[in-house]
Amino acid sequence: MTINLAKYTCIFALIVSLYSCKKNDQISENRKISFNENWQFLLENSLNSDTLNTNWKTLNLPHDWSIEGAFSKKNPATYNGGALPGGIGLYVKSFKIKKNDSLKNHFINFDGVYMNCEVWINDNYLGKRPNGYISFQYDLTPYLNYGENENTIKIKVDNSKQPNSRWYSGSGIYRNVWLVKTDKLHINNWGTYITTPKVNSDKASIKIETTIINDYKEQKKAILKTKVLFKTIKIAENSSQLNIDAENKFSTSENLTIANPNLWSIEKPQLYTLISEIYIENKLVDSYETTFGIRSFKFDLEEGFILNGKSVKIKGVCNHHDLGALGAAINTRAIERQLEILKEMGVNGIRTSHNPPAPELLDLCDKMGFIVMDEAHDMWEQSKTEFDIANNWKEWHKKDLEDLILRDRNHPSIFMWSIGNEIPEQWNIRGAEIGKELASIVKSLDNTRPITAAMNPPIITNNEVTTQFENIADKPNSLAASGALDIIGYNYAHKTYEKHKINFPNIPFIATETTSGLATRGYYASKSDTIKRWPYRWDIPFNDGNIGNTISSYDQVSTPWGSLHEETWKIIKKNKNLTGMYIWTGFDYLGEPTPYVWPSRSSYFGIIDLAGFPKDVYYMYQSEWTDKPVLHVFPHWNWETGKDVDIWAYYSQADEVELFLNEQSLGIKKKEGDELHVMWRVPFNPGTIKAVSRKNGKEVLIKEIKTANQASQITLNPDRNSIKSDGVDLSFVTVTVVDKKGTMVPNAMNNIQFTIEGPGKIVGVDNGDPTSHASFKASNRNAFYGKCLVIIQSLKKEGEIKLTASSSGLENTTVSINTQK
Ligand code: GAL
Repeated sequence: MTINLAKYTCIFALIVSLYSCKKNDQISENRKISFNENWQFLLENSLNSDTLNTNWKTLNLPHDWSIEGAFSKKNPATYNGGALPGGIGLYVKSFKIKKNDSLKNHFINFDGVYMNCEVWINDNYLGKRPNGYISFQYDLTPYLNYGENENTIKIKVDNSKQPNSRWYSGSGIYRNVWLVKTDKLHINNWGTYITTPKVNSDKASIKIETTIINDYKEQKKAILKTKVLFKTIKIAENSSQLNIDAENKFSTSENLTIANPNLWSIEKPQLYTLISEIYIENKLVDSYETTFGIRSFKFDLEEGFILNGKSVKIKGVCNHHDLGALGAAINTRAIERQLEILKEMGVNGIRTSHNPPAPELLDLCDKMGFIVMDEAHDMWEQSKTEFDIANNWKEWHKKDLEDLILRDRNHPSIFMWSIGNEIPEQWNIRGAEIGKELASIVKSLDNTRPITAAMNPPIITNNEVTTQFENIADKPNSLAASGALDIIGYNYAHKTYEKHKINFPNIPFIATETTSGLATRGYYASKSDTIKRWPYRWDIPFNDGNIGNTISSYDQVSTPWGSLHEETWKIIKKNKNLTGMYIWTGFDYLGEPTPYVWPSRSSYFGIIDLAGFPKDVYYMYQSEWTDKPVLHVFPHWNWETGKDVDIWAYYSQADEVELFLNEQSLGIKKKEGDELHVMWRVPFNPGTIKAVSRKNGKEVLIKEIKTANQASQITLNPDRNSIKSDGVDLSFVTVTVVDKKGTMVPNAMNNIQFTIEGPGKIVGVDNGDPTSHASFKASNRNAFYGKCLVIIQSLKKEGEIKLTASSSGLENTTVSINTQK
């Protein structure tokens, strides 16, 4: 291959343009368009089925057919997979391409399809992608019809062989699909790579690598112009002349300098845009946009994680990808809401357990300031469930990992790659062999971020995995010892953290996964100080627990491999070298209802329940992880008279809390030593519990909990009263059952019906109950410990949505939500 590159380096770096630069010209706007609308869908198992079959439904993507199904013990996903149906789904879409686009290239981009996606265009087979979390592209160009002739794209999605996941996967084209139109000379898919080799507060050097495809049958002379924008201001540019051989792929690299860079940080996640343009004979033929950030960081053996020169404790959570009642079908607002709730708690990190996430999650983490650990796999060549992706390891692992890195490496929010979670090979020689292979794939595409793996645990005793983690010897497992990892990732084993420096003197620490505390929102055991480790062992069925499969919401129950929330945080907090932690999990998720089995079908691990309502321990973290004053007092105040009730308070920015029952003081309490909460044991009498936090004798906050009377009304509280009229945006409405005076009735389980008028529809209902088998797609829901949720989506029309909630014996309530352009 001969490539002639005559590169004229006209570096206009440091040029601060006085006028603003229009980011999206015609080309960028049309280059990538949404291809989500108007698909025909059939849940079937044969491509030959009659297209006129009335079972075909018209729908828009993203789409998850499993979430629309019925829960059943018999579904092969099992309760660990969420107990919803899988199957085979067919998607068909017809479309036309304008005649004058016949000289262009057309591609289809899938952000993620679960799983075994096969694609045909006009009956030509484009290929199969087994991995349900990976993004991929096909070139449609050779097979397209133009003008009045239609094109038909057919997709088969096969999620029939189950179990193939340890959690709920969802089924179908559950992420966005795009149609990409380019000139024959164009920037490749994921064709830019921006790194910042030197960063300080006066100056940052930026390296830009661009990969260009020439699909013309002749050599092309072109100019590549790159412009760096901050907001809309052009702050640097460069121009290179290129000669690219016919039908060839070509990469070039440029260096720019930016003065006084606006650094990306958690508090101020400032972003830059790179516009890469290709000109042939002065005509703009391609324009490609990349968002990036400028920041410096390191994982230090002594000082922990350092971002832009400052030490930052990583206070992260792990999350699976489902969005509760919406299932796996991605919706940007639903992800944003989750991140907002986490930010409010003080979370600054997200682990994309255990797979490549939706691109929208990473975009939001870039914008909102989260430290992301991007994870590739839950298994390598050894399966964890019978039909999982390990069956495709040999053929696909290299391509899957390469595509993940190529897609994600420009995101400033990503600080670590995790090459695997609790990979069984970590305990044998394959752990080292595969670990090294994967690390070299990652390093060949991105050597700006460290590689870790979530190991359980990184240390073994006498070649056996310790289950108690107390008598730990000093032998790293095969993967930890292989040299493949830049950071040692611990899943659990919190009692070994303080020995990290001894066991791994030269490799920094990260707690990839911690805690696995368990709770049901709104439910409390009678005594809060008995600690339970449920189940007794991960591989022994648990036949114990509470009637109704509840778990107390005092932080008093955890798995035996994990810890109570307070236990792990106390260790991480006091040791500077422990860079931080990712708690299992931020949000509850469908599947894995540990310690229970069916009829439970979703997790108890979340700090926030499946509907998005915080459990009490949320406020422990908020009191520790944010600067705002916190006073959270619980439980509710509706008990049997005379019964002893434990009242807990999480507080911050205060020295003490005084508790009152019906204005009688129950005493002042202070957190002593490393305590994270205070407690009073109080015989129940109806009335009002009042807590007052004080600093230097001055009141900081007051919280009251009142005994509720009979349920009499419903309140509706939308998270947003005005949403976009784009047919996508959402309003999450909290529904609360209250008494006459407006106090939440803490044990209310009333069935609430919803009706809707105007330009909106109900797309999900939930209440956070891990045992409920009611449909997420119904228009009614039982309250669960006083609350439920209804999710409203706009139609493509401006106007007023009126949502009414009614329930027998309660007053109706209506709320308005506006839809606007
Ligand atoms: C971990 C695993 C997670 C989840 C968790 C539950 O071992 O990595 O995926 O299963 O346990 O405690």
